[in-house]
Amino acid sequence: MNTLTDKAILNIDKIRSEFPILHQQVNGKPLIYFDNAATNQKPKRVIKALSDYYEHDNANIHRGIHTLAERATKAYEDTRLAMQHFIHARHTEEIIFTRGVTESINLVAASYGRAFLKEGDEVIISGLEHHSNIVPWQMICEEKKASLQIIPISEIGEMDLDAYAKLLSSRTKIVAVNHASNSLGTINPIKEIVRLAHEVNAVVLIDGAQAAAHLEIDVQDLDCDFYCISSHKMYGPTGTGILYGKKELLEKMPPYMGGGEMIKDVTFAKTTYNDLPYKFEAGTPNIADVVALKEAIYFINELGKENIAAHESELLHYTKEKLTSLPGIRLIGTSAHKVSVQSFVVEGIHHFDIGQMLDTRGIAVRTGHHCTQPLMEHFGIEGTVRASFAVYNTRAEIDKLIEGLERICKFMK
Ligand SMILES: Cc1ncc(COP(=O)(O)O)c(C=O)c1O
Repeated sequence: MNTLTDKAILNIDKIRSEFPILHQQVNGKPLIYFDNAATNQKPKRVIKALSDYYEHDNANIHRGIHTLAERATKAYEDTRLAMQHFIHARHTEEIIFTRGVTESINLVAASYGRAFLKEGDEVIISGLEHHSNIVPWQMICEEKKASLQIIPISEIGEMDLDAYAKLLSSRTKIVAVNHASNSLGTINPIKEIVRLAHEVNAVVLIDGAQAAAHLEIDVQDLDCDFYCISSHKMYGPTGTGILYGKKELLEKMPPYMGGGEMIKDVTFAKTTYNDLPYKFEAGTPNIADVVALKEAIYFINELGKENIAAHESELLHYTKEKLTSLPGIRLIGTSAHKVSVQSFVVEGIHHFDIGQMLDTRGIAVRTGHHCTQPLMEHFGIEGTVRASFAVYNTRAEIDKLIEGLERICKFMK
């Protein structure tokens, strides 16, 4: 029997025992880790896969015929297969390994954008985007004399779909939006966003950084053209992630970086490029972390995304209810459709002070603009306190957060 779940109910104690980092004291108090939207913690099996790889299999991949090279290559390519199934991609070669979402978006902006954008074209993003899904588009729009259009968002932090529909035209060439917002947690109606963009023949990139650990992803059902994931936000190691792209698009895109592995033949007169996915994987990749990412995929699969989402949604609602009962707290991001992220500000107390004082109680939250400065400006604030949950968090930990906030408010006011 699966020991992490029991008849579709997660065994949280057992799950917590899989995460060594959680079992420590910080500032003399048991660690409560609520910074999961920035990066979540790693189960033993991911950590073990990393050390096993270096202890037994380490070799450079694809180019060697010796046993270690073959083992390392197989382990690396097995993750590609696991990721293909995880997001329901049609073809294995549609999975490109990158350093994470930031690199995936930059790859598409630089390769697709540079090849296909022309003067006067438009790229649409939303007011909810992380800087990683703003700046690469600003850079390529500036280079190609294209313009960047922004989908406005509402007071509760949802995209205005009517305004989006009005922005779309024959000038729209690329739409790039997130699946779920890192600052607010809002889950965006990406299937509808893709459908509308395709009516004007625009391609759509989805930033899935905040979705991969929480939401079912079926790229064929979504029909998105590109989908980006960071391993470290889905219980995997830092420094790797993927770009999914439809094969027919990836095939017509020029390489992003030149170097070893991405070539077929090199002469001083001319270079021909490798087939997918290697055309986009120049140089020695982050082999060990890719290998360990497979264990993160299996971990999530074993728990079941539905079970994870149900547990986290319960935590989110509990937090919202408790925070609302505290005086002077303003919740930022109150859509009914959210992943487990709650941002808030406390009247009269700077978010950094709150973050620091919670840290003295062993509670890790994130404070600041969360790489979404335009979104903060929309709400007329500099930043928020953000609590974001993972599958190992508990109600008892939220009680500690609320108790901490109550004390801070009493002390500071
Ligand atoms: C919504 C969103 N997009 C993009 C990123 C960038 O991800 P990475 O730094 O892993 O490349 C993040 C990271 O916080 C994010 O939350």
